[in-house]
Amino acid sequence: MENRVALVTGGTGGIGTAVCIELASQGFKVVAGCRDLEKGRVWQSALAQQGVECELVQLDVADYESCFHAYISAEEVHGPVQVLVNAAGITRDKVMKKMTPDLWQQVIDTNLTGTYNLCRIAATCMTEKGYGRIINISSVNGRKGQFGQVNYAASKAGIHGITMSLAQELARKGVTVNTLSPGYVMTEMVAKVPEEVLESIKQQIPVGRLGTPEEMAHAVAFLADRRSGFITGSDLSANGGMHMY
Ligand code: CAA
Repeated sequence: MENRVALVTGGTGGIGTAVCIELASQGFKVVAGCRDLEKGRVWQSALAQQGVECELVQLDVADYESCFHAYISAEEVHGPVQVLVNAAGITRDKVMKKMTPDLWQQVIDTNLTGTYNLCRIAATCMTEKGYGRIINISSVNGRKGQFGQVNYAASKAGIHGITMSLAQELARKGVTVNTLSPGYVMTEMVAKVPEEVLESIKQQIPVGRLGTPEEMAHAVAFLADRRSGFITGSDLSANGGMHMY
């Protein structure tokens, strides 16, 4: 059988973990990118106990050289990366008057520059092979904005800009590029939102609940499928109806 390799940045995070499990269940050799290799190993053995095999590669998505080294070494060890999922992301929520340049930059560097870094490397490697699937994880808040998230909303809106532009550049080269925009999903990131704020956010979700990481993983797997070759430059929203466009 063909060796299919998927690289998932933020692979040990809330949505990233579910994506790794889903793609592994579909027969991909999954390589999870993580910043802290020691924590990554704990994560890896927890998954192994559930019968899920995932490889690890250390990388700092905000650093181009680190991404290049990680991507190339993953290909050397496991074979060409066919699916890249950019799921690494952080929040540093504050109202504008408290949002220091450092809080702005941290989020832009990780979420937006991180996506650029991996997309640039994948664009070259995947077009050489004539096949690839790139899935960039954005957010409902990149579309609708959110009180306290000037940095995060800007980074997530920018991610879809990368998707739409790169999708056009790679359309004739066998590589699709799509965005998945999750809504509020049960992860540690969302658990950090103050309880009363989260309660009022839940009231704004027509489906009446938060999403699950598994629901996001299902959507990623759909975009990663070989049969999804006519879908490119799209923004798939998975937000329980919170924001429709
Ligand atoms: N609408 C209107 N007013 C609001 C408000 C809102 N949504 N949230 C806070 N305020 C008000 C406060 O009541 C306060 O008013 P006063 O000055 O009159 O007392 C003022 O704004 C400032 O509040 P704080 O001093 O608490 O400001 P802060 O900067 O420390 O914290 C906050 C504010 C960070 C925005 C906090 O309310 C918060 O965490 N909100 C949630 C933000 C959010 O939804 N983040 C999503 C994280 S998950 C994620 O991002 C995943 C994804 O993709 C969906």
